[in-house]
Amino acid sequence: MNERMNTTLRIAPDVKLGRGVVMHAFVNLYGCEIGDGVKIGTFVEIQRGARIGNRCKISSHTFICDGVRIEDEVFVGHNVTFINDLYPRATAGNGALQTEEDWTCVPTVIKRGASIGSSATILCGVTIGEHALIGAGSVVTKDVPPFAVVAGNPARLIRMQKKDAERREADMSEPISHPDIPPERKLEPFLVR
Ligand SMILES: CC(C)(COP(=O)(O)OP(=O)(O)OC[C@H]1O[C@@H](n2cnc3c(N)ncnc32)[C@H](O)[C@@H]1OP(=O)(O)O)[C@@H](O)C(=O)NCCC(=O)NCCS
Repeated sequence: MNERMNTTLRIAPDVKLGRGVVMHAFVNLYGCEIGDGVKIGTFVEIQRGARIGNRCKISSHTFICDGVRIEDEVFVGHNVTFINDLYPRATAGNGALQTEEDWTCVPTVIKRGASIGSSATILCGVTIGEHALIGAGSVVTKDVPPFAVVAGNPARLIRMQKKDAERREADMSEPISHPDIPPERKLEPFLVR
């Protein structure tokens, strides 16, 4: 990171930053944990208490709040919003601004390998399963099963993806063919054991 770039980042001293993290301009991190090899786009804010695993991609303009745990190898699209309070209020009963004591943080878990499409909103208290895929602009209100593709507001199941092992098997049984690839360059299926 060069000197000039550095001035546009705000990384609080209490951030636990992994090795090889790449950050773009105007990133604001405080009190959070970021794993190894994570890439963070511009205008991302990650709050105190949020935890990001290894090798995740957090795209620009995304907001990750306290209570969110993101496991390894998760893709978070642009402008994704997480939530940690279902019934937010500006003030407490006495009319003063709410403090930490006046509300309960509801946790959210994004499991390994999941992907969240751009502009999705993830309500709190949900678990998004391993390798699940959330459509762009979705509002996720319930748990998402592993390998599910969901979309819409509220997000509904569109289809299930093949699990990794099934996917590999399908790839190996189908020769790769494309009209733009001359026949001599078409690859034969191969087996890796
Ligand atoms: C959700 C998604 C993975 C579905 O892709 P797909 O499996 O190829 O699904 P299809 O395009 O065949 O659409 C299936 C149905 O879901 C609907 N649909 C697809 N994406 C949707 C979305 N984001 N929100 C609401 N409905 C959606 C389609 O209109 C279609 O409805 P129909 O059957 O009534 O016509 C994809 O559309 C998506 O949103 N990907 C995320 C992209 C993204 O945000 N990338 C971020 C970085 S660039």
